[in-house]
Amino acid sequence: MPAVFYFSSMSEQLQSSEERTVKLYDEAYSANYRAYDEEFINAPTYKHYRQKLEALTSSFHKPITVLDLGCGSGRYFHTLKNTASLTGIDISEHMLEMAKNPVKGKEVNIPSIKLIAGSVYDHDFNGEQFDFIYSIGVLGEHAPFTLEMCNLLYSLLNKDGVLFTTIVNLDIRKNTKRKLAEMAYPILPSNLKRVFDERWKSNYMTQKQLQALMATSKFTDYSIDNHVSDDGVWKGGHYEVTARKSG
Ligand SMILES: C[S@@+](CC[C@H](N)C(=O)[O-])C[C@H]1O[C@@H](n2cnc3c(N)ncnc32)[C@H](O)[C@@H]1O
Repeated sequence: MPAVFYFSSMSEQLQSSEERTVKLYDEAYSANYRAYDEEFINAPTYKHYRQKLEALTSSFHKPITVLDLGCGSGRYFHTLKNTASLTGIDISEHMLEMAKNPVKGKEVNIPSIKLIAGSVYDHDFNGEQFDFIYSIGVLGEHAPFTLEMCNLLYSLLNKDGVLFTTIVNLDIRKNTKRKLAEMAYPILPSNLKRVFDERWKSNYMTQKQLQALMATSKFTDYSIDNHVSDDGVWKGGHYEVTARKSG
């Protein structure tokens, strides 16, 4: 599976991702993240995701159940329409603490909000299903986006439910030097291969990898878009998967 390309195994990729995430999103970093939310709401990237989430949640024309996967500080809670109940899950207890007082809190119009501390890879949802699942800045970034995760998200959706997730665009992050090194990789000595393996370890995905994953997943109705970030802090882009559980 392409997502494990430079890792020795999927369990190594998952374990090292989770360890790095928990270490990164400590108390101080989480407080800074939440403080930055107040500025972020002026950035074009915020407007982009606000419009996406408003449009997707409005499209149901009925009260819906929503799962925010890797909800962090609850940055997008206030953008959700028609939402009867929201479940936010995050591996960082400090980020979840921030989500109790999210940005534009007065605009959050959701009767029931449940916050769960834990990894989406381990959590037992106990048969619960959702109309809408969204995940921004998490999969294909801090956590691997694997075929298993994609199919788990499919099973967590109600019929006609919708998934919206971002995946970091690896294609635009590769400079010419890296492209040349990748071409030479198969014939490199193993010690040099190990150096590149270490350097290139990430959860980011190329469009080709993402397309291959979606094509083998349980989803048959999906689109992949590309969005270049312009939030002024993070340079790069995301692929955006919008998928419907039809049939
Ligand atoms: C860049 S932040 C994005 C937060 C929020 N979605 C947003 O857009 O502001 C990434 C979040 O994903 C969470 N995360 C990373 N891996 C996770 C996992 N395996 N399970 C649950 N949450 C995870 C981190 O703790 C962090 O809060």
